[in-house]
Amino acid sequence: MPTVIHNRFAVSFDYPVHFTDNAFDPASDLLCGVFDRLGEKRVHRVAAFVDAGLAEARPGLEASIRAYAHAHEDAFELTMEPLRIPGGCKAKNDVAIIQNIVFALGNLHMDRQSFVLAIGGGSMLDATGLAASLIHRGLRLVRMPSTVLAQCDAGIGVKNGIDHHGQKNFMGTFAPPFAVVNDVSLLTSLPPRERVGGLAEAVKVAVIRDGAFFARLETDAPALAAGEPAPLRRAIEDAAAIHLRQICTGGDPFEFGSARPLDFGHWAGHRLEILSGHAIAHGQGVAVGMALDTVYAKRAGLLPEADAARVLALIGALGLPRFLPELEMRRPDGELEVVRGIGDFREHLGGRLCITLPTAIGRTVEVHSMDEALIEAAIGELRTLNHKT
Ligand SMILES: NC(=O)c1ccc[n+]([C@@H]2O[C@H](COP(=O)([O-])OP(=O)(O)OC[C@H]3O[C@@H](n4cnc5c(N)ncnc54)[C@H](O)[C@@H]3O)[C@@H](O)[C@H]2O)c1
Ligand SMILES: [Zn+2]
Repeated sequence: MPTVIHNRFAVSFDYPVHFTDNAFDPASDLLCGVFDRLGEKRVHRVAAFVDAGLAEARPGLEASIRAYAHAHEDAFELTMEPLRIPGGCKAKNDVAIIQNIVFALGNLHMDRQSFVLAIGGGSMLDATGLAASLIHRGLRLVRMPSTVLAQCDAGIGVKNGIDHHGQKNFMGTFAPPFAVVNDVSLLTSLPPRERVGGLAEAVKVAVIRDGAFFARLETDAPALAAGEPAPLRRAIEDAAAIHLRQICTGGDPFEFGSARPLDFGHWAGHRLEILSGHAIAHGQGVAVGMALDTVYAKRAGLLPEADAARVLALIGALGLPRFLPELEMRRPDGELEVVRGIGDFREHLGGRLCITLPTAIGRTVEVHSMDEALIEAAIGELRTLNHKT
């Protein structure tokens, strides 16, 4: 007689996302509090990994991590010299990097209550987070995102991953961090392209969920484009809060369903990154992806023309692209290369295709197919807009 045992349980996650300045100032005890947030009152073991691009841009960073550890040796112990991990797309395109992190942590005999402190951009955090999630099925991960994009999006959520098989995030896990520390002082060394690129994710959450935030971004756009610190910090905090609200209350933090509003603009954005051999950064790809889906939604009769114009204007005012030549690359059979991003996106999510399109600023709808002729027309419109500006 066949029998079945049905099982159901819930695991609750909670983690803080701190906003601070100069976390490695020896006078700050924020990081010590983060390691001991469960009140364990012991000397915590911490292995620190640093984005190589960040370390090169801030030559004193590793010394300040060591000095901080020295000043707080009653709270935590650095188990090794901070180890550099390649930054940018290199981090996510070499399985050997994951192996190196696994070896380093294995040799240190880190246990499930030991900490990985990862300091860097979204790419390095994704790779380090994946490795940390595999060892003993998950070490405690404290992320310190060092780019605008990572502080408002990539570094604060529950996912990690690396690219493989010609697809973004082909290998990865869902693994909420132990804590996140957004240190605004890390952003001062960011090149302008990276700083502005990160704002694409702020535009994204504003368009899908928050018209009032969108209006604030419109007002602050000139200051944000110029890199003024106060509006930048405000935009990061607001965008992070909306992003986290979506994860915590949106009903599907581990993406078991097919709908993914936080991936607005990403089906095309990811494909553009791949088509350019990663010359196009994530933020810039997403900006063009959002411009494409905005014009598409307008042409499909889903989004009022005035709202579409506002979205395109904000993307441009922030110094983000709305068109890139990769949008017009074609396969030998004449099909637009970017369109393959739709299939990749569906395969990544599984089930029915689900693309989020705006219906107003702050509101969206899920569509289950995309019309290629409309995509072509939208690309043509963006090309014309690009020539005019
Ligand atoms: N896990 C997620 O939920 C999620 C969400 C969105 C994006 N992502 C991923 O994030 C990646 C993009 O991350 P990103 O935009 O943070 O860029 P990045 O990590 O690719 O870094 C860009 C460049 O900036 C350098 N850098 C980092 N911090 C610096 C600093 N403070 N000063 C000087 N240089 C610095 C890096 O070394 C690199 O060369 C993409 O691979 C994307 O897939 C992940
Ligand atoms: Zn993104």
